[in-house]
Amino acid sequence: MAFPVNRPRRLRRTETLRSMVRETRLTPEAFIYPLFVCPGTGVRKEVRSMPGVFNLSVDEAVKEVREARGLGVPSVILFGLPETKDEVATGAWAEDGIVQKAARAIKSEVRDVIVMGDVCLCEYMSHGHCGIVKASPQSLGAAAGAPPAPAEYEIVNDASLELLARTSVSLARAGVDIIAPSDMMDGRVGAIRAALDKAGYESTPILSYAAKFASGFYGPFREAADSTPQFGDRRSYQMDPANFREAMLEIALDVEEGADMIMVKPAMPYLDVIAAARERFDLPLAAYQVSGEYAMIEAAARNNWIDRDRVMMESLISIRRAGASMILTYFAKDAAKLLA
Ligand code: PBG
Repeated sequence: MAFPVNRPRRLRRTETLRSMVRETRLTPEAFIYPLFVCPGTGVRKEVRSMPGVFNLSVDEAVKEVREARGLGVPSVILFGLPETKDEVATGAWAEDGIVQKAARAIKSEVRDVIVMGDVCLCEYMSHGHCGIVKASPQSLGAAAGAPPAPAEYEIVNDASLELLARTSVSLARAGVDIIAPSDMMDGRVGAIRAALDKAGYESTPILSYAAKFASGFYGPFREAADSTPQFGDRRSYQMDPANFREAMLEIALDVEEGADMIMVKPAMPYLDVIAAARERFDLPLAAYQVSGEYAMIEAAARNNWIDRDRVMMESLISIRRAGASMILTYFAKDAAKLLA
């Protein structure tokens, strides 16, 4: 029935009315707060391209988690900046690795917080790739020290799985509650599940970055985590932004391999993927509002081109409306404050 009988504006007349008929709500319980942990004590170094986001030493990270938890944010996800990097990502799986240390400290000092561990090798590899790099025969003659050209190297899949599995077990041992692999190697969820089970961590859930796209929106993160690839790019393992059906396949494979929760990343440029994932899969669904999404909002707000708080909340509600139950967001604390 059309106008004049039908007048949708009737339900928009007051805030009380609007609130009563509101379809989607944000609550701090939905937020997962990413933190970048670095060596040292008393370190709180702002990331140039992410104002309001810091590299935190373990002691500072503990304070940050306590504050976020106090605002009702249930969970943090940890990324590490190791002391040194090498070709086998030692810092990722070392018992005294930076994330392992942070996890132990946070779990012992902050009550009732869920600590997630991002599992990837790029931050710990001297070359900045998410897996083991093998130069192909033709590159072996190249000038010493020269970065190999794209056709001359390969990110080796199966050998990388062992390091990812080892990292996951080491994180679980350090008290990490949820293992979140973000590397995009084929078969990693299955490999990690098997390794966790074998080590006695059969109750530790896996949140897989199931549909992770090779995105320009990760730029500021790579500064924050010092994980820019030293040559080439991530297109041979992360997904082509043009591919929707392949995203559904990636998710289905991770579900089959034993993922307990799935993630789409980035968030706002991929709301269609989030909506379809919600429709087709029944596992808890997360979306990652990544560094570039955060940086764009902060930058525009700093120019007074947009109302920061309003756009922050609108971006988050859009991700919820698309169907994500959980949102990894650098806005976690600020949004929780506004919701209080
Ligand atoms: C590690 C990883 C990245 C992000 C999360 N885990 C960077 C990348 O894939 O290059 C990006 C998160 C963000 O941009 O906020 N592989």
